[in-house]
Amino acid sequence: MIEIKNLEKYFTIKAKFSDRKIVHAVRRASLTIPDGGAVSLIGESGCGKTTIGRMLCGMETPSEGTIIINGQDISKLRRGARARLLQKIQLIHQDPYQALNPTHTIQQMMSATLKKMARQKKKGAEWISQRTNELLKLVGLDPSTILFKYPHMLSGGQKQRVIIARALTVEPEMLVADEVVSMIDVSLRLGILKLLRSLREKFNISILFITHDIASARYLGSNTELYVVYKGMIIEKGLTEQVIRQPHHPYTQALLSAMPILKGIEKPGKDRFVLTSQFRQSEEEQVGCLFADRCPFSQPICSEKRPELISQGNSTDAYACFFPEIRDVAAVSVDH
Ligand SMILES: Nc1ncnc2c1ncn2[C@@H]1O[C@H](COP(=O)(O)OP(=O)(O)O)[C@@H](O)[C@H]1O
Ligand SMILES: [Mg+2]
Repeated sequence: MIEIKNLEKYFTIKAKFSDRKIVHAVRRASLTIPDGGAVSLIGESGCGKTTIGRMLCGMETPSEGTIIINGQDISKLRRGARARLLQKIQLIHQDPYQALNPTHTIQQMMSATLKKMARQKKKGAEWISQRTNELLKLVGLDPSTILFKYPHMLSGGQKQRVIIARALTVEPEMLVADEVVSMIDVSLRLGILKLLRSLREKFNISILFITHDIASARYLGSNTELYVVYKGMIIEKGLTEQVIRQPHHPYTQALLSAMPILKGIEKPGKDRFVLTSQFRQSEEEQVGCLFADRCPFSQPICSEKRPELISQGNSTDAYACFFPEIRDVAAVSVDH
């Protein structure tokens, strides 16, 4: 189980013709991912999703906050112990084209990563080759046709499957899947999403699924949670289906109404709730709600005070909004 508590991340950027600029990329984010569970992070580009994923994988150090994996605070571990723990969390990037070494065949690549495991398990070359075949089959590839190919000979979908197979070589407990289908042909996306779901179901691998597309978060299986991120802050969370059916925060409502009609979900009304103004990283620290400048329902209090993420009753749902009405989002149209 993974618990992230009050995670903060600031980046200092040295701009060319001005002073240093500080970007507040993640704001007091807390999230829990149970064993075998799936959590999706959703939000526009630049809202801090990748940074959260990278901190979880130990690739970025939090400015503040704690990450607890299987009961251990990773910042308090020694290097070796920390590396062993973090190896159980594998990151899969959005760009399958850059993640593979173009000079290695799939077989060479798989055996290079399996060698370390083989040493640990005191196994030899035969085990490596068996395991390679097993993992490639598991991700839906035919070893005999793919083993001796180079990455450029594969489709985007096949490459992403190879990358997933490579991540599985270390027998991970969790995958951080960062926009894994965004660069893949639309026709091949569903297959990859179904593969992630089956890894969860078969091996109890938990998944942190990062996406800007709510629809893809629905394919991860049952009991998944959705966290909506805006300017680094989690502004709404809950069970994925629940949030999609009854979004409370106007930003979540905007995200939902921007997408095509979802199967099984009624969307009455003609107009859509569209956010036309661009998302801007605030130059100066905003006092009130981070979404107030784009929100069609904002009231004076929204620019004066920041609403906190507050849990609702006994449910897992929470949202950070002073006016969290359930609106017929499809009937609202906004033009800034
Ligand atoms: N290494 C970095 N150095 C400086 N700024 C960064 C760095 N990584 C991310 N950022 C900034 O942090 C914010 C969040 O980025 P990111 O986590 O990549 O968002 P997302 O994945 O949601 O698109 C952005 O404003 C981005 O420019
Ligand atoms: Mg990203």
